[in-house]
Amino acid sequence: MNLTELNKVATAMVASGKGILAADESSGTIKKRFDAIGVESTEDNRRDYREMLFRSREAMSQYISGVILYDETIWQDAKDGTPLVRLIEQSGAIPGIKVDEGTQALPMCPGELVTMGLDRLAERLKTYYQRGARFAKWRAVIDIGSGIPSMTAISVNAHALARYAALCQAAQIVPIVEPEVLMDGDHDIDRCHEVTQRVLNKTFQELRVQRVALEGMVLKPNMAISGKKSPKQASVEEVAEKTIRLLKACVPAAVPGIAFLSGGQSDEEATAHLNAMHKLGPLPWGLTFSYGRALQAAPQKAWAGKAENVAAGQSAFSHRARMNGLASRGEWQSSLEQKAA
Ligand code: 13P
Repeated sequence: MNLTELNKVATAMVASGKGILAADESSGTIKKRFDAIGVESTEDNRRDYREMLFRSREAMSQYISGVILYDETIWQDAKDGTPLVRLIEQSGAIPGIKVDEGTQALPMCPGELVTMGLDRLAERLKTYYQRGARFAKWRAVIDIGSGIPSMTAISVNAHALARYAALCQAAQIVPIVEPEVLMDGDHDIDRCHEVTQRVLNKTFQELRVQRVALEGMVLKPNMAISGKKSPKQASVEEVAEKTIRLLKACVPAAVPGIAFLSGGQSDEEATAHLNAMHKLGPLPWGLTFSYGRALQAAPQKAWAGKAENVAAGQSAFSHRARMNGLASRGEWQSSLEQKAA
């Protein structure tokens, strides 16, 4: 393992003004997104859609540091035969790959999940590296509900995240460690804060036990935020203040960067929250976005599967990328959104 090189990649992934595009929807998830815009989820349509994003020159060269790909995409070629990975590299962004294989029910723990994919991971990482991937992602899912999460779910998921992270570093790939506490429930922000604190503490404990070099990883957490169904919705300032307090308590400064998931927040909320956190700086790590839905909802709607809408899709993507790029410096204002509308 070359830690200097891993640290260089991790630092580039969270460079100020840039963030990560999570375009690693599994076949099931992208089908759901395509259903919503009336597009059939064929291999060609998935390729055309992602090619549209990766050829968005303004977004990719100025505001996107890296792209998380799904296995199908990393092996796909653009219409003209150029591998999609090369398009990403040519724009100056770093290709990454989702390597977990989704979740399964956790035995003895009703309603809870464990992430799969450790078997043969070392071999898979080798082939992904050869194809150009320089970072990877593994997502653990923790749900909040009555009596959950259990310590069992937190513990097995943290263990798997650390196993994955160590295998990545041994393969010279930067692991994005993503323990996602879902925002789907009716819990308030303080419950989210408390659960996320337990999850992050356990995750870093496992990372240490398994000798993962913190300098060569990126953390992808949820924000401390109210559950979607909670009658008590926290303000942007409260989310920012509680998230930063939480991260300062749990994330060592040796970690080069933190890149949030959007988790079901609206496009503008996700941007406003990141921006407000930067108003509370200086911060000990790079702090940016690794959004899926909050970067792609607008371009998906504008594109709607039609070749004549590619320019509109790219412009919608570039707008969101620029807004989040500004937020990653604390330079975003909501008036910039109105101007674009
Ligand atoms: P969202 O931003 O849509 O939550 O997706 C990010 C991601 O990569 C989840 O694993």
